[in-house]
Amino acid sequence: MKTYLVTGGAGFIGSNFIHYMFQKYGDDIRIINLDKLTYAGNLENLKSVEDRENYAFVKADICDWEAVNRIFQENDIDRVVHFAAESHVDRSIKDPEVFVKTNVLGTLVMLNGAKAAWELPDGTFKEGKKFLHVSTDEVYGSLDEDGGYFYETTPYAPHSPYSASKASSDMLVKSYMDTYKFPANITNCSNNYGPYQFPEKLIPLIINNALQGKKLPVYGDGKNVRDWLYVEDHAKGIDMVMEKGRLFETYNIGGHNEKQNIEIIHIILNTLREMLPEGDGRRKLVKDSLITYVEDRKGHDRRYAIAPDKIKKEVGWLPDTRFEDGIRRTIQWFFENEEWMKNVTSGNYQKYYEEMYQI
Ligand code: NAD
Ligand code: DAU
Repeated sequence: MKTYLVTGGAGFIGSNFIHYMFQKYGDDIRIINLDKLTYAGNLENLKSVEDRENYAFVKADICDWEAVNRIFQENDIDRVVHFAAESHVDRSIKDPEVFVKTNVLGTLVMLNGAKAAWELPDGTFKEGKKFLHVSTDEVYGSLDEDGGYFYETTPYAPHSPYSASKASSDMLVKSYMDTYKFPANITNCSNNYGPYQFPEKLIPLIINNALQGKKLPVYGDGKNVRDWLYVEDHAKGIDMVMEKGRLFETYNIGGHNEKQNIEIIHIILNTLREMLPEGDGRRKLVKDSLITYVEDRKGHDRRYAIAPDKIKKEVGWLPDTRFEDGIRRTIQWFFENEEWMKNVTSGNYQKYYEEMYQI
């Protein structure tokens, strides 16, 4: 039975990944979830797995060497799936320091924990061990509107403190692979959406605001392009790279689903109107007139677009979920989990929202 150490498993993608893995492997794997539970970490995301005997949660900071090393020493970890990070670009523009601490130093601590546990006296590594570093397409910078894609060979050109910190963490992982032949892969994925996404990110923020008749903030001209992937397809890609990816390689993950932000907002509004039942009071709140253009994000990258050719060819990964279906599944999940949304938008979220959006 393989033991996975998942960092950041209480966040959006991490919790979806844990659900995906238990659905796929059931009792044949063990998962230890290491998470600090920052504002973005939420154990409610994992309620349905918390009583499993093959699941354990450890509340700790990935920057805490003693806590991280203890996990490696007390458990025979086979796989590390490293999600834990500060992940929101807007927050990184206001407060970059925690991004460097968690994303760069935290990744170094994780690498050292795995290296200490897996390295043999002759400097090689135990068989079958792997560290998968989950990263982002934002490390590649920004593309022109009229063409081009991010390939694994595209030079790094991060612009925001968030993407600079992720690029630095990728470089650390690359340096461990190059220097020590440390058994790892890096995946660089495009924008995810789906259940459990914290409503500071575009899609859940728009769904939540629209259902309450609140303004829908659009940065700049609304024509920035992102390449959206349903989160379960990302989870599947990570699992496949873990199993079939060649050691020391980087794989881009994305589904050729480019959309302008304003298009996304119109799709959400139309889908909400379609899906809300007749007689539901929220139907009349969901209006196009809520769309409000606000000041642009500083250094706002214009376009991201992944070329997923390598992961398709080498690993056989393809996304399963069309955007029209994924967005409906996401909206349905938010309909069924109003309490979740209420809980995450109480308290500190209100303060964040008011400071971030003066609308
Ligand atoms: P998230 O913000 O929803 O979750 C991050 C998780 O990490 C939270 O549970 C948080 O508590 C935990 N965490 C933060 N700092 C920590 C620390 N110091 N120690 C331990 N745990 C800590 O993020 P997400 O959107 O799920 O992203 C997960 C990973 O995937 C990140 O590495 C991100 O860069 C990457 N990624 C995200 C996207 C996306 O669209 N969201 C796309 C590509 C890559
Ligand atoms: O590309 C992968 C990245 O996608 C991940 O690495 C990040 O962790 C993840 O947060 C996401 O980054 P983005 O900055 O692209 O996502 P966000 O949802 O914040 O914004 C998506 C687009 O929508 C972006 O062009 C900014 C715009 N936007 C966002 C918000 C929150 C708005 O116009 N209004 C908003 O209120």
